[in-house]
Amino acid sequence: MIPITQPQLGEAEAEAAARVVRSGWLSQGPEVAAFEAEFAQMVGAPHACAVSNCTTALHLALTALGIGPGDEVITASHSFIATANVIRQTGATPVFADIELGGFNLDPDAVSRAITPRTRAVLAVHQIGMPCDLGAILPIARAHGLRVIEDAACAAGAQIRLGDQWSAIGSPHADIACFSFHPRKVITTGEGGMLTTRDPQLDATFRLLRQHGMSVPDTVRHAAREVVLESYPVSGFNYRMSDLQAAVGRVQLAALPQIVARRRELAGSYRRKLADIDGLTPPAEPDWARSNWQSYCVRLPQGARQIEVMQSMLDSGVATRRGIMCAHLEPAYAGLRTAPLPRSEAAHRECILLPLFPQMTEAMQDEVAFALHAALHASHGLSAVRALSRELVR
Ligand SMILES: Cc1ncc(COP(=O)(O)O)c(C=O)c1O
Repeated sequence: MIPITQPQLGEAEAEAAARVVRSGWLSQGPEVAAFEAEFAQMVGAPHACAVSNCTTALHLALTALGIGPGDEVITASHSFIATANVIRQTGATPVFADIELGGFNLDPDAVSRAITPRTRAVLAVHQIGMPCDLGAILPIARAHGLRVIEDAACAAGAQIRLGDQWSAIGSPHADIACFSFHPRKVITTGEGGMLTTRDPQLDATFRLLRQHGMSVPDTVRHAAREVVLESYPVSGFNYRMSDLQAAVGRVQLAALPQIVARRRELAGSYRRKLADIDGLTPPAEPDWARSNWQSYCVRLPQGARQIEVMQSMLDSGVATRRGIMCAHLEPAYAGLRTAPLPRSEAAHRECILLPLFPQMTEAMQDEVAFALHAALHASHGLSAVRALSRELVR
C-alpha cells in the first residue's frame, strides 16, 4: 500500500522526546522557547509563538486583532474547514471568495469584490503549500484598511517572491502567519502550531492568551527564588504546546530544507511521469512561488469520475484524497449566504491528491502513475489515455 503521506521520523526525534521525559519538565518550557527561536530564524520572523495546533493559532490571531461579532472576514471556502470555523468561533462571519483560475488559492479580484463596510480582515490560505498571491492581495487589503492573516498551515518551507526578493512564507508578509505541525504537514510534532508576526504587541498578546491570560508564566515562577504571584488581566485559553512536542519539532525543523528539496524533486518527477495522460492537469507553480509540495493535486481529465478513480487506485494499493474541500458545501455552513464559487466547487469535484512524501521512491511514483492510468481507463474508458510505456507495464 502506498499511503497518501508518511512523516519522516527517526531515532533523533525519539531521542529528543526521551530527553524531555528525562528532564522532568514536559509542558510548555525551555524546549518550546528554543523551538520558537529556531522557527523564527528559519522563516526570518522577529517573533514566533508556539501553540497546540494551527486551528488555535488562527483563533488566537483573529482574537488578538480584535475581530468579533459584527465583523466580516474574507477567506476561501476551498480550504480545510478549520479556516472558516475559526472565523465563526470569534463570532465574526466568514465571507467566501472564489479561487483563481488554474490554481487553488484566493483570486485577488474576488477578494476585492467581497469587501463590504463590515470587512475587517482577509484570511489568505497558502493552500497545500503553494503561496497565494500576496503581491496582489496585500495592496488591496491595505487600500481598504484591512488586516491580513496568512493561513500557512501547510506552507512551512515554501517561499514567495515579492518584487525581486525571495523570502520564506511566515516572515510574515501579512500581519500574522499561522502554521500547522499535524502529521499531514511537511514537518510534524504530532499536533502543533506556530504564529509568526513582526509586531511585538501582537506576540505579547498571543503569549498571554495561549496560557489562560496568566501574567507570569509558570516557567518564570518555577525559576524564581522569591514568591511570585500571577494575576489574570484577561480571560485566555489553554493553547499551549508541550516540551515533548517542541523537542520533536526542533529535530524536524532542522531537516526542513532537505525535506522540501526532496518534495520538490518528487513533484518534478511526477510532472514528467504524468505528462502522457491526456487531459490531466498537473498543479501550476507561478514564477513568483516555490511550493513546499505538501500535497500534489492533479485535476482529472474531463468526464473522469473522481470517486471511481480514487477507489480503483485504492484497489491497486495507492491511497489518494479528494480535492480540497469546500466549507460552504458542508452541512455546518448550509445557512450561510455566499457568492457563487464555481471555481472552488469545480476544483473540489475534479481534483485528487496523489501520494507524496520524502521516503517515496521512483518505483513508487511509477506505481502511482500506472494506477492512475489504469483507473482513468477503467472508470471512463478514456480513449485519450495512451498506452503506458512498455517499461512501466513490464
Ligand atoms: C489550510 C488549513 N488551515 C488550518 C488547518 C488546521 O490545522 P491543525 O490541524 O493544526 O489545527 C489545516 C489542517 O489541515 C489546513 O489545511
